[in-house]
Amino acid sequence: MGRLAARPVLHRLAEQVGRVRALDGPAEAVAKQVRGAIPKGPVKDALSGTPLGHALHPLLTDVPIGSWTSAVLLDVLGGRASQPAAERLIGIGVLASLPTAATGLNDWADTTPASDEVRRVGAVHAVANVTALALYSGSLAARRSGRHGRGVALGLAGLGALMVGGHLGGHLSYAQAVGVDQTALERRPGDWTDVLADADLPEGALRGAEVDGHAVVLARTGGQVHALAGRCAHRGGSLSEGEIVDGCVECPLHGSRFRLDDGSVERGPSAYPQPVYETRVQGGRIAVRAA
Ligand code: FES
Repeated sequence: MGRLAARPVLHRLAEQVGRVRALDGPAEAVAKQVRGAIPKGPVKDALSGTPLGHALHPLLTDVPIGSWTSAVLLDVLGGRASQPAAERLIGIGVLASLPTAATGLNDWADTTPASDEVRRVGAVHAVANVTALALYSGSLAARRSGRHGRGVALGLAGLGALMVGGHLGGHLSYAQAVGVDQTALERRPGDWTDVLADADLPEGALRGAEVDGHAVVLARTGGQVHALAGRCAHRGGSLSEGEIVDGCVECPLHGSRFRLDDGSVERGPSAYPQPVYETRVQGGRIAVRAA
């Protein structure tokens, strides 16, 4: 029997966090509140990065991480003259952490119902980052009241919490593919590939099929057959279980809408369009190929 590949200890720790079922109750309750507070539409799309074309949260994290890390470096290496600059950097990080947290909270809330493990890791990632925010806020207050040594100590503790949050955030993005276009690695066939009997796709219906191991969703509207990648680019929802709305297929998980004719995003939270296939009907069969 083959052995499982050994993983680095930090990776295993992150995986352990993903198995802590005790997090489910509070995490699900908070995620539900967040989803209820952010209605589908322009605000949710902005927080999700839909107008940007990829997730907004990773871009915003650069500011607090960069500001707070630079402040700690100035504390350690910069000497007395750099104290005002370190204080300003911490203040910038505290301000920037607010929109950063809002985008992260929005993304995290959408991990329900897509993945329990991701929701749990995301909850601890959020707690670590809120701890870092509290420690840096305390550091700022201490510096402003003339207790510089206490401010430096709180900044160092904040950096520790930030590292924990950063590691778990990296695990979510790179090991769990949160925020990644879920269709990015699909390879679509260049040759016509038979997928379904024409009679099995009546007007106004959605059907699921498979091409080279990848899900495809087929739809017929106005007599025309459309085919898109069946796995939602946002978090992998099954589009064949969704519905047709105003010339779009709507994902059953978080309500992203993709135009049936070209796969473009009509409404987020997906930041990515849905790949489309060319279709043809011949001899009573529907076939597709990469557009
Ligand atoms: S999986 Fe989230 S909208 Fe489709």
